[in-house]
Amino acid sequence: MARIIITLTPLFYFFFFSLFSHQTLSQPQHMHTFCNPSDNFTQTSSYETNRNILLTALSLSSPLVHYLNATIGLSPDTVYGMFLCRGDINTTTCSDCVQTATIEIATNCTLNKRAFIYYQECMVRYSNVYFFSEFESKPVIVLYSLRSAPNSNRFNQTLSNKLDQLIPNVSSSTLIPYFVEDQERVTQLEGSYDLVSMIQCSPDLDPSNCTICLRFAYATVSTCCGIPSSALIFTPKCILRYRTFVLPSPAPSPSSLPPLSPLSPPPLSLPPQSPPPLMQPPPPLNT
Ligand SMILES: *[C@@H]1O[C@H](CO)[C@@H](O)[C@H](O)[C@H]1NC(C)=O
Ligand SMILES: *[C@@H]1O[C@H](CO)[C@@H](O)[C@H](O)[C@H]1NC(C)=O
Ligand SMILES: *[C@@H]1O[C@H](CO)[C@@H](O)[C@H](O)[C@H]1NC(C)=O
Ligand SMILES: *[C@@H]1O[C@H](CO)[C@@H](O)[C@H](O)[C@H]1NC(C)=O
Ligand SMILES: *[C@@H]1O[C@H](CO)[C@@H](O)[C@H](O)[C@H]1NC(C)=O
Ligand SMILES: *[C@@H]1O[C@H](CO)[C@@H](O)[C@H](O)[C@H]1NC(C)=O
Ligand SMILES: *[C@@H]1O[C@H](CO)[C@@H](O)[C@H](O)[C@H]1NC(C)=O
Repeated sequence: MARIIITLTPLFYFFFFSLFSHQTLSQPQHMHTFCNPSDNFTQTSSYETNRNILLTALSLSSPLVHYLNATIGLSPDTVYGMFLCRGDINTTTCSDCVQTATIEIATNCTLNKRAFIYYQECMVRYSNVYFFSEFESKPVIVLYSLRSAPNSNRFNQTLSNKLDQLIPNVSSSTLIPYFVEDQERVTQLEGSYDLVSMIQCSPDLDPSNCTICLRFAYATVSTCCGIPSSALIFTPKCILRYRTFVLPSPAPSPSSLPPLSPLSPPPLSLPPQSPPPLMQPPPPLNT
């Protein structure tokens, strides 16, 4: 079982819903659609035509790249859009996701001038407001495990250290822009586990806004959801994902280990299986 937490603009509230994680479909896994209801266009307007051309262009490019931004139409009917696929999925999966997303976003946000759709594999958005190169903090979606991370009183620090190692490398990645993945065996007195992580920024960000975005994503998961054993955070401009795999082996000899920090944070006050305190039923949203 996993849970999703969402922060939503413009209403700025949180909600969660549960998700069964045993889906075996090859279809993309939808997380949430954010249709902005504050600004609508009319049917058969130029904005609608431009929006639909934009979504088609994104869809057609998705077998070729993991990221695309596009601008269609003249003011005041200009539509800006983008898609971003996770760097650790192949182009087939990326393209399937973007093709589904571009159809669903137009279907579900029929007349809205701005919208986001988040899947576990990709995100698609369009807007009448220019957003390229800007760091944006909303809307955010977090999918996280209800199991606590191994060695949970040190995990926050372990993950934070991992991020400090990965972030300096993110702007120099070559094959897929702004994407770094990593796997490390964490060996601690309490036990060993594999930490598999990835970070990724939208390539329109500059390195400093990319860093800001990834630190924001880490701060979101480290404050929202306890210390989950795995999490996937999508923000409008960056993605953070980590998973942990506990190893069955016995603890290694203490001499090979760093000493336990006397400053390690206190254990979680929540029992591992209890829902987080912010849990609420999902409100009726979007269509
Ligand atoms: C925009 O359309 C949505 C339905 O899609 C509606 O709920 C909302 O009130 C509309 N917003 C405005 C400002 O008219
Ligand atoms: C792409 O990844 C999916 C899911 O992991 C896999 O089922 C598929 O075979 C892969 N396709 C190619 C061409 O590698
Ligand atoms: C689109 O809206 C329909 C209901 O109108 C809902 O069942 C469906 O889950 C939504 N799909 C997405 C991708 O938001
Ligand atoms: C970084 O993002 C901010 C918005 O949060 C934007 O104002 C600024 O121009 C961006 N920096 C660059 C170099 O694009
Ligand atoms: C960061 O990049 C350097 C140089 O390419 C490499 O040696 C190092 O292993 C990378 N670190 C991580 C954590 O990926
Ligand atoms: C894509 O984004 C960049 C900013 O990173 C912008 O300069 C460029 O015009 C955009 N391209 C399109 C086709 O909108
Ligand atoms: C994890 O660390 C961050 C800062 O590094 C802090 O804001 C957060 O409260 C910590 N979370 C827990 C559960 O200790």
